Amino acid sequence: MSSNYLSGKEIRAIAKENKKVMKRLEAYKYRKADESEYLTQMRDSSNILEIDSLHTYFFTEQGVVKAVNGVSFDVPQNATVGVVGESGCGKSVTSMSVMRLLQGPTGQIYSGEIRFKSKDKDGVEKVYDIAKMPMDDIHKIRGNQIAMIFQEPMTSLNPVFTIGQQLDEVTFIHNPDASKEEAKAKSIEMLNLVGIAMPERVYGAFPHELSGGMRQRVMISMALASNPRLIIADEPTTALDVTIQAQILDLLRDLKTKIDGSIMLITHDLGIIAEMADYVVVMYAGRVIEKGTVEEIFHNPMHPYTIGLQKSKPTLSSDSDTLFNIPGNVPNPINMPNYCYFKERCSRCVHKCSGDYPEMVQVSPTHFVACHLYNEE
Ligand SMILES: Nc1ncnc2c1ncn2[C@@H]1O[C@H](COP(=O)(O)OP(=O)(O)OP(=O)(O)O)[C@@H](O)[C@H]1O
Ligand code: SF4
Ligand SMILES: [Mg+2]
Repeated sequence: MSSNYLSGKEIRAIAKENKKVMKRLEAYKYRKADESEYLTQMRDSSNILEIDSLHTYFFTEQGVVKAVNGVSFDVPQNATVGVVGESGCGKSVTSMSVMRLLQGPTGQIYSGEIRFKSKDKDGVEKVYDIAKMPMDDIHKIRGNQIAMIFQEPMTSLNPVFTIGQQLDEVTFIHNPDASKEEAKAKSIEMLNLVGIAMPERVYGAFPHELSGGMRQRVMISMALASNPRLIIADEPTTALDVTIQAQILDLLRDLKTKIDGSIMLITHDLGIIAEMADYVVVMYAGRVIEKGTVEEIFHNPMHPYTIGLQKSKPTLSSDSDTLFNIPGNVPNPINMPNYCYFKERCSRCVHKCSGDYPEMVQVSPTHFVACHLYNEE
């Protein structure tokens, strides 16, 4: 492996190459394109989202950070898929890719497909490859068919407008002909739906006047106002205390039934996954290393990393308060090895582990693991 220090010449060469690639990808993002260019088919019609070999990179001065490096997983209709993994493994970058919220020109979807089954107002279903959609057309899905709930709602709410103004705005976007009274009635209804006791008062309040839990409820009501088919929740309860956390999770579960939709739930908390998810995707260093049903991942974890995660769950008797305490470090994202990324931390390493990166092995119709221990050949 080369040293971590770069010479001036190397930095200039990286910058030149990066500039070229970023320019090409930015032009592609902002091109005008006919819908037919990004219409596609689902591999399995029971899914609402299929992420297929997604590569999302950041073109930095030090080199290319392969934050998401070939991620594939499905979100079935009416299911909750939990995405778990330690800090920096690419969970948020995956969700930002689906929402096309990556900050360009540095952050770019480099390759892969994100197939989403959309349904327009007249009930017509179309499958879009979100990765190929030009930015001009993203409004077809973002903020209406797919809604996102972030960890810290304060950053997504505008501090200078009241909750009511911000909620009404969502109605106007989706129904420009609505009257002011209609928009307000809809906003109050939404606040009611997320269990806000005095909706009129919250309607007139500014974001800073509400507690964290209330703000998260408002964000959820805003996400709902657009009737999404898929909700992406990125650590929605991490900033909240335990009782509020439980209420927000209950709310999310209720809403999934109400909108008859799916949830992609990102969290580092295995307890939340066990409680909420039907399927689990375990990520490590920008890749999926194991995925399966919640029973498979909890009762029959196979990848040494997943097994380590389960062991590192805090319990009443352990004195550890950190969730992920598997010793060792994740490799440098700019300089990933070509063998298993977990090798330096793995206690079950075999001879093959120094060879190629392990292929995904299917162990049941729903359970997959990328580890040489399960590769028969
Ligand atoms: N703007 C950026 N520029 C360079 N690298 C970035 C940028 N944003 C994210 N990354 C890198 O991408 C990788 C994945 O980050 P991501 O935010 O997806 O992690 P995460 O799994 O959501 O972690 P956490 O649990 O801490 O939220 C990290 O290595 C991070 O350093
Ligand atoms: S491939 Fe080898 S090093 Fe990687 S997790 Fe499996 S056993 Fe460990
Ligand atoms: Mg994150």
